[in-house]
Amino acid sequence: METYSASAVTRNYDRLVGVYDLLASLWSGGAIRAARMWCARQTRSRTRVLVVGAGTGDDAALCCANGAEVHLVEASQKMLAESVLRCKSAGGTDPVAIDDDFRNVQFTQPMDDILVPFFLNIFCSAELPQILRHLKECNASDGRILISDFSPPAHFFASKSLMELWHGIPMAFFFLFTGNAWHGVHDLPHALEEAGLTIVQRQKFRIFGIGPRWIEALIVEIKSDL
Ligand SMILES: C[S@@+](CC[C@H](N)C(=O)[O-])C[C@H]1O[C@@H](n2cnc3c(N)ncnc32)[C@H](O)[C@@H]1O
Repeated sequence: METYSASAVTRNYDRLVGVYDLLASLWSGGAIRAARMWCARQTRSRTRVLVVGAGTGDDAALCCANGAEVHLVEASQKMLAESVLRCKSAGGTDPVAIDDDFRNVQFTQPMDDILVPFFLNIFCSAELPQILRHLKECNASDGRILISDFSPPAHFFASKSLMELWHGIPMAFFFLFTGNAWHGVHDLPHALEEAGLTIVQRQKFRIFGIGPRWIEALIVEIKSDL
């Protein structure tokens, strides 16, 4: 197993369990949830699905209801407990719950699909390649990684500045309260390309349904020529 210097694991997500979904919904007008659920709808019955940083797990619950073999990895005990509860009440399969830092978790069998909902934004751009490498290691060679996160920064100065402001306000809160990294909006398509991953599908989501398309979902595969 390869080791690397990693940031400290986040704290205090336990204390957000009752309000996280509401905050995300108020901030994005439902776009955050829409992207996460779009990814969950792409998963299939009887496949091995990993959900990384599951949070309260409404997307994981949909995967269980669809009959997938779901593995949840969550560093917050309370988030994980809420996620398990949602999965069990959705019917279908029972999830495997792993209360740990994803960076420490190894699987004996690879995953068909890995859901990565608003998890990459926790890390700074210097640590992203290591996280992406670990996601690849957990994935089957013909598997998929389904990412929901912020769209890359816009090109024009005015829209880029507005997006950075919109992204920066919650970032400041999470930086101070949970210890997420402080960084600008990630250019995930570029980081994925650098990591030897290919985007095969891309879906954008408008803030409040009518605003800018600042949230997106990406389906990614491991490049076959690497
Ligand atoms: C920004 S929240 C996203 C929650 C949920 N996936 C969503 O889309 O609403 C990040 C989640 O990842 C968890 N987390 C943070 N660092 C982690 C790590 N190193 N390993 C596993 N989970 C982690 C947090 O506890 C939190 O629930």
